[in-house]
Amino acid sequence: MGSAAPQVSFGTPSKVEVLVALEPFVRQQTASHLERRKLWFPNDLFGADQQETAEAQQELLKVRADALGLPDAVRVALALNLLTEEGLPHFHRLIATHLGTESPWSDWNNLWTAEEDRHGCVLRDYVRDARIFNMGALERMQYRYLEAGFNPDWQRDPYRLLAYTSLQERATQMAHANTGRNCSQYEPKIQRILAHISGDESRHYAFYRAVFGAVLEQDTSTALCSLLKVMPALAMPGHTISDYEHMADVVRRANIYGPRHYQEIVEELLQFWNIGGLTGLSAEGAAAQEKLMKIPARLERMANYLDAKAAAERSFSFDFIYDRTITL
Ligand SMILES: [Fe+2]
Ligand SMILES: [Fe+2]
Repeated sequence: MGSAAPQVSFGTPSKVEVLVALEPFVRQQTASHLERRKLWFPNDLFGADQQETAEAQQELLKVRADALGLPDAVRVALALNLLTEEGLPHFHRLIATHLGTESPWSDWNNLWTAEEDRHGCVLRDYVRDARIFNMGALERMQYRYLEAGFNPDWQRDPYRLLAYTSLQERATQMAHANTGRNCSQYEPKIQRILAHISGDESRHYAFYRAVFGAVLEQDTSTALCSLLKVMPALAMPGHTISDYEHMADVVRRANIYGPRHYQEIVEELLQFWNIGGLTGLSAEGAAAQEKLMKIPARLERMANYLDAKAAAERSFSFDFIYDRTITL
């Protein structure tokens, strides 16, 4: 690729070269993911076979009865988690656009997509069978979300995609695990489902952070600049939904997921990638490194500010839970 190659078409030439050089590593990471993976299916966790046993029917009735006890704040978290998973068509497209097709990268994308699809399926099976929402309202919200699209401004930079997925997988892992913990005392089946999803997310996280770590090794300064574009504020996939801000506020006040969790993720990754200890950087790389290392303190100030604001109670209502008032 010569210097005349258009920079906007697919990363910069050097980034494409790095992606190609990393193909054996991606193949190896995919293989070790498959070794660690436990493939489960929605029907294993919440069955819906035609030849249902009397026992299964009893179980369904019990789930429905127990799910009546789920607090509304937890329902909001479940709605947000489900919605995020249902954005999968857009995520698959983004990965394919940034990493291409017909390579170990796209093999990973296809495998990852098949695994992720089960998350939306099993959550939808659950919320439908357990009858925990005004389902029509939820479906309309999901439709609007998908129709709005998800187009983060990554300038076709594949490094930003890999930085984003590292952060995002860990964020969803935490959100599912914490939601599950908040459900267990009321209805244990959903906790079991969320634990399975959360286990998948932690294996996806391990893949993306290893791969971005390899990018950092190969192209350190450029990768630091890309990381700086993504890390200060993670645009969640659902942020285009009208009620998103309120839903996120409920989930934060319920201590299921919020800026403190994000700060923890950022600190974990800065340490895992040894960002502060990287040397031999260009001027831009060194400037990015310095700014990256300041992000945790800034996130902490933001979390403190939001916590101070949350000292005053606030009321919320959402059509997908019949406009009941939630005060937190
Ligand atoms: Fe997922
Ligand atoms: Fe995932």
